[in-house]
Amino acid sequence: MNTKRTHNCGELRSSDVGKTVSLAGWVHKRRDLGSVVFLDLRDLYGKAQLVIDPKKHPELSEALSSIRLEWVISITGTVKKRKDPNPKLSTGEIEISVTDLQVLSSSKTPPFSVFQEEDVQEDLRLRYRFLDIRKGAIAQNLILRHQVMLAVRSTLSSIGFFEINTPILGKTTPEGARDYLVPSRVHPKSFYALPQSPQLFKQLLMMSGMDRYFQIAPCFRDEDLRKDRQPEFTQIDIEMSFTRLEDFFPIIEELMQKVFALTGKTLSAPFPRLSYAKALDLYGTDKPDLRFAMPFIELSSILQTVPASFIQDLFSKGSISKALLVKGGAKKSRKEIDAFIQIVQNFGLSTLTWIKRKDGDFSSNALKILSKEILTEIATKAEMQEDDLLLIGIGEKLRLYQAMDHLRRHIGDIEGLIDPNKHAVLWVTDFPLFTKDPDTNRIESAHHPFTAPHPEDLSFLRSNPENVRSLAYDLVIDGYEMGSGSMRIHDSALQQEIFAILELDEEQMHEKFGFFLNALQYGTPPHLGIALGLDRLMMILCNAKSIRDVIAFPKTLHAKDLMMQAPSRANPEHLQELCLKHISP
Ligand code: AMO
Repeated sequence: MNTKRTHNCGELRSSDVGKTVSLAGWVHKRRDLGSVVFLDLRDLYGKAQLVIDPKKHPELSEALSSIRLEWVISITGTVKKRKDPNPKLSTGEIEISVTDLQVLSSSKTPPFSVFQEEDVQEDLRLRYRFLDIRKGAIAQNLILRHQVMLAVRSTLSSIGFFEINTPILGKTTPEGARDYLVPSRVHPKSFYALPQSPQLFKQLLMMSGMDRYFQIAPCFRDEDLRKDRQPEFTQIDIEMSFTRLEDFFPIIEELMQKVFALTGKTLSAPFPRLSYAKALDLYGTDKPDLRFAMPFIELSSILQTVPASFIQDLFSKGSISKALLVKGGAKKSRKEIDAFIQIVQNFGLSTLTWIKRKDGDFSSNALKILSKEILTEIATKAEMQEDDLLLIGIGEKLRLYQAMDHLRRHIGDIEGLIDPNKHAVLWVTDFPLFTKDPDTNRIESAHHPFTAPHPEDLSFLRSNPENVRSLAYDLVIDGYEMGSGSMRIHDSALQQEIFAILELDEEQMHEKFGFFLNALQYGTPPHLGIALGLDRLMMILCNAKSIRDVIAFPKTLHAKDLMMQAPSRANPEHLQELCLKHISP
């Protein structure tokens, strides 16, 4: 069987005319034109047109009559100039006149077309992922992913970082999601946890003196999934000793520039910075999409003067007001504005107040309560011009932020304010060190408990922990949290104090992180780091709608692998060996 190729299906050109070549691949298209048969042969690299004349080569007739789409064949033939060149194909100037043909394998009829674009349900694509990859678009994403990983490795290696693998079977890690547990056969009733991140190991490597570490690291989190989350994902994990944020940020900026350059895109550095407080105030989120402007406009002080009792009531309960200015939006219909109202209602706001400035006058759904003076004052504050629309939300701060953030993103999208070829990268800094869980009222780490407090806020660490800022930062690209990191605590007394504020008692502290606290006491260098989400990064670089399109074998939103049908039930013998048994939920 001849499976050796002299060329791939995408590389032959008119300069190859006259050569004898061997190609192999999948049958992409078949056209029987009376005396001759045309086949398009496809592989990862392209397509080539084959011409077979069974009269000249009767020995090929039998094989030729059986060949169907997606069969794998190999051929030998002579490259000829094509009479009807196809400018859409890289090989469009030539065809191959086949002298020998072998069927390497047949194919069942695929459940969806591999050769043409059609709307295929994602579940079916995932079930037949190998065919979906064969189609081409996902394959191209995977190739770019490979190039990104190479660029990451070469950029970081060239400045002294070493890639070090850390264990997959370990103990619970501090990222706050649920762990995936793996039962130990050798130690009945004991479990390993799969790493949510290599956080503890990379800090231990700093303590080991490996002062510039990175790893393209598999991570596992059992959490609710979204379009930019997978239960199993990959981080570009980085840690460095003896450095300051001011010297570390340029390293990550250069890394990002190199990676984006692979798709011909330029990012200008240094990346802008926005404090967490400012990001929330201006965009209602710590991951603003800055590909378009449209910051929030603060209207609380003006609206507080409106005498209407329900407005007074909202403000007396601590509500605030933020507005969005839609340039040229006064032409929006009632129906379109109702759709905006629906968005904020989905996030718990009761409604939106709208004001249009048209023909030198104002119209609004709140004309009954907004006097001409107030309308003018609002319009001046919002810098509203003729034909503009102002959308005003009032509500409890966090709910309002969330609702108006979604509304802003939606308007940016539908108004075409986002140039798909541009990217907006920024650092968000000065995150709070702690947050309060609204259900339990307990203080929790906003990032993770190894994050250093902001030195200016140390004096009120105990007395007012909720207002303490941290030295944590996020890298945000096009409205996605691309990476997260921080300066770490390298002083064991401070680390213990943080655990005490988190109300971890001695026993819990010891059980969870005893080994780590112990190591901290043996000479820990100051260190900091970051983890960038490789899959999210690829989503942006590939302009993919879903994180699943940049992962070879992803899981569904319900954390299932539809192709393997994982997770699946373990057989009783296996469970017995692990001292486990099924209990009905
Ligand atoms: P964090 O938990 O913020 O930080 O994660 C860092 C980055 O990893 C990506 N990411 C994910 N990507 C896909 N699916 C998921 N389920 C998922 N979860 C996280 C995001 C995120 O910004 N150890 C710290 C980092 C550090 O402090 O150095 C950590 O893991 O892009």
